Amino acid sequence: MDLKRSIESVRKSFLADIENLPADPQKQESFRVRYFGRKGEIASLFHNLKDAKPSDRPQLGQLLNDLREDLFSAFEEKAGKSKSDGKSGENEHVDVSLPGLHLPAGSLHPLHQTLKDIKDIFMSIGFSVAYGPEIDDDYHNFQALNIPKHHPARDMQDTFFVDDNTVLRTHTSNVQIHLMEDEEPPLRFIVPGRVYRNEAISFKSYCLFHQVEGLFVDKNVSFPDLKGTLELFVNRCFGSDVKMRFRPSFFPFTEPSAEVDIWSESRGEWLEILGCGMVDPEVFKNVGYDPKIWHGFAFGMGVERIAMLKYGIDDIRLFYQGDARFLEQF
Ligand code: PHE
Repeated sequence: MDLKRSIESVRKSFLADIENLPADPQKQESFRVRYFGRKGEIASLFHNLKDAKPSDRPQLGQLLNDLREDLFSAFEEKAGKSKSDGKSGENEHVDVSLPGLHLPAGSLHPLHQTLKDIKDIFMSIGFSVAYGPEIDDDYHNFQALNIPKHHPARDMQDTFFVDDNTVLRTHTSNVQIHLMEDEEPPLRFIVPGRVYRNEAISFKSYCLFHQVEGLFVDKNVSFPDLKGTLELFVNRCFGSDVKMRFRPSFFPFTEPSAEVDIWSESRGEWLEILGCGMVDPEVFKNVGYDPKIWHGFAFGMGVERIAMLKYGIDDIRLFYQGDARFLEQF
């Protein structure tokens, strides 16, 4: 078995040579090519395998594989060592105070995180989560909410019309109507979702944003229940030392109505985060609930507004631009 002898002699000469492996990278490279290259010593041993007796080939193949592995790891070890022993290594100075490499990791979008916080708070006090259509008829978005056609209250919400009778919903309040049409009271729901308004885009308004609607209907619901629920929400969401106020307001579908503002320390001003009120008896009539038996409160909050306050974001457009430098801060 000549090949067997050749294998041993290559091993011997390699082990002798590797002892004197030069530190010069170029010389190391030619050493590597001599043994491990495509036409190197080991490759030519493999080449000779075909001349061996077929019955010897498995054993010889095994020997060759072992040889290649042994020698290559010996080479790598030696070459690696000589690198760190080298001159450049001696003067190398490792600054252990340097910050580590930044490994980019995904994170939740701030709107998603805020929505999750809002849902968690309301679910912890017995609200369920429901969803409704973003494209809806005029009836559910307006008329059933006590906003007839040509009523000036429509000016509060600049509307995208799909056709004369179909709109991109301007608020999540349309789902109040769907819920009450579909379910018997009592009801306790929050409804997160996208809403659309045909407004000039600026730092504070966008053609699309998110709301969370709330609807609570039961027999003895009164304004203090609404106040207590929203106070609890604000305290859990912003912390118990945040300043909030209820300010009288108007919505066609609630009576009385109010808006909730939060004091922003950084801006030194009140910022509105939601509208709310007691469900107007007209709305109950539209869905076939008897307003003498059932009472309820509703609210609608802007998710972007809340996220902006929570995280100190001052331009609403940042939420939609997908800029990684913005997003990776969360
Ligand atoms: N739908 C109102 C808006 O978008 C908010 C609101 C909801 C007010 C429910 C009262 C009750 O401005």
